[in-house]
Amino acid sequence: MCGIIGYIGKNDAAPILIEGLKRLEYRGYDSAGIATISDSGKIEIRKQTGKIVELEKVINQFPVNGNIGIAHTRWATHGAATLTNAHPHVGQTGKIAIVHNGIIENYATLKKHLENEGRKFITETDSEVIAHLIERHYLNDENKDSNNPLARLEKAVSDTVKMLEGTFGIAVLCDDIPDTIIGARKGSPLVLGIGRDAMFIASDINAFVTYTKQVIYLDDNEIVTINRDTYQTKTFERAPVSKDIEEISWDIDEIGRAGYDHFMLKEICEQPDSVRNAFIGRMLHEQATAKLGGLKLSNKDILNIDRILITACGTALHAGMVGKYIIEQLSGIPVEVDFASEFRYRNPIIRPNTLVLTISQSGETADTLAALREAKQKGATVMGICNVVGSTIARECDGGVYVHAGPEIGVASTKAFTSQVTVMILLAIYFARVRGLSRDTANEIMKALEKLPDAIQSVLDSRDSIKKVAEKYVDTQHAFFMGRNDQYPVALEGALKLKEISYIDANGYPAAEMKHGPIALIDEQHLTVALAPDSPLIEKMIANIQEIQARKGKIVTVTDIKNQMIEKLSDDVILIPKVHPALKPILMAIPMQLFAYYIAVARECDVDQPRNLAKSVTVE
Ligand code: G6P
Repeated sequence: MCGIIGYIGKNDAAPILIEGLKRLEYRGYDSAGIATISDSGKIEIRKQTGKIVELEKVINQFPVNGNIGIAHTRWATHGAATLTNAHPHVGQTGKIAIVHNGIIENYATLKKHLENEGRKFITETDSEVIAHLIERHYLNDENKDSNNPLARLEKAVSDTVKMLEGTFGIAVLCDDIPDTIIGARKGSPLVLGIGRDAMFIASDINAFVTYTKQVIYLDDNEIVTINRDTYQTKTFERAPVSKDIEEISWDIDEIGRAGYDHFMLKEICEQPDSVRNAFIGRMLHEQATAKLGGLKLSNKDILNIDRILITACGTALHAGMVGKYIIEQLSGIPVEVDFASEFRYRNPIIRPNTLVLTISQSGETADTLAALREAKQKGATVMGICNVVGSTIARECDGGVYVHAGPEIGVASTKAFTSQVTVMILLAIYFARVRGLSRDTANEIMKALEKLPDAIQSVLDSRDSIKKVAEKYVDTQHAFFMGRNDQYPVALEGALKLKEISYIDANGYPAAEMKHGPIALIDEQHLTVALAPDSPLIEKMIANIQEIQARKGKIVTVTDIKNQMIEKLSDDVILIPKVHPALKPILMAIPMQLFAYYIAVARECDVDQPRNLAKSVTVE
């Protein structure tokens, strides 16, 4: 986790770094810090616990100058979220400062070794060893012979990173070389931004997109040295590597809150567009199929697939679970879905014709990345369904599909989910058409998909009524979400949304499982949200609602039919438009998101940055 940014240019570094940190805050927000090389030539550091605004206050009170600096927003892994543990970290002399995103697994051994040499550590972090190691290499006798400090620093960074086990994206400052930042990456993202008379290095492009759209994605085991107008990329062995400059298409307007109270609400409301972006240009009505060229699969490859394994975390996993229903139903290919964290360690069975699908909004989730690597090592063809273009997962997969949801800033994922499910539907159609699905069925779903943004908009237009329902349940302590078939993963997602942002204890279940245990918890205070759109299983859902009602539980039912029994049994009913059965998981997710959002707002929770969570989980 954590976000890092470095800047070197003609302007004052501090405001640019603070602005960048604010855009990286979704990566962690329990403390933050900045180091610049000030006009006096010395490294100056400011840190504070809490969010970036707290650091900003410190800098307003005790300003730092300088046109070069590095900065960090932290999500604590080693050591509490204290001022001392906040980055940047320095070595013994204060000559070298670093910021680090990732985890150094062998830090304890390295620290002991350095302590035995007489070095004093002041933090509980794993990251501090990096500063000490670089400083030690930089100042050591052999190196002192070189009177070129830049060459010495580059060698020191290279020698250090080769000793580190674990994951890292780092940026390094040294006050002997006040016109240079060195970055290095292994396992944690690092992107270079090439501006006019300015250079940036950051965990992701959000941090500097206001200044430049020219980027270079560093790969693992690469080091970059940046000056105001030049950069040099090398391997850890210091062999030059040439990298392509890419132009990103995101706009700054896409990153601001655009007048909404929270990013989460903005992102919920963007779903007519984000879902459209996921399918636009990908439906071939003539051939009655979807066009997903990025998968790089021939019809023969698709015919040969005998099993699909989907692996992901959090919301992306729920999207994969919805995908299982639709892929199996349309294409007949058996699909298994597993938590990436379990997949990677359970020795998954992968045969030559197994296709592995990883799903990830950020494309950086450590467990998903590890699952991907495990699957590749076992010989699987691995596809990635990602949102962030150029992310590590996207780059390491054999092929994939971007969901094109645009930047998602709210920690609780919303628009990425509906875009991921949209792509799963296209993928199911594509595979199924090669394996015998009728033209009519494929075209029927695709035509319905084209109308889906309007249906989403109509749910959004009715959000005030969802708000009124939500506000009635603001004091709820415990909630169940239940659904059947492809509504079961939506129930899991609804429960996840509610617990993430409102801290209400919420769990999702297949509706029929309620009687095997969970129903024991039902009483007058307990809320159950029933996902009951019209389907062949509607009568069974009504029976499950009845079981809750008989035990005096509170019931909110979300449905797309007017049904007297549902009205009678439920305390509240949220009615949404009827869409094609294959698309119901997408549409049903929207009232779940709004319900969670309005409850959390009514409880005065920090909706965009809920406690203990982070948007991009780049640690195990
Ligand atoms: C974190 C986020 C979730 C997200 C999950 C997987 O837990 O808070 O919203 O679903 O990671 O992230 P990914 O980027 O791989 O989709």
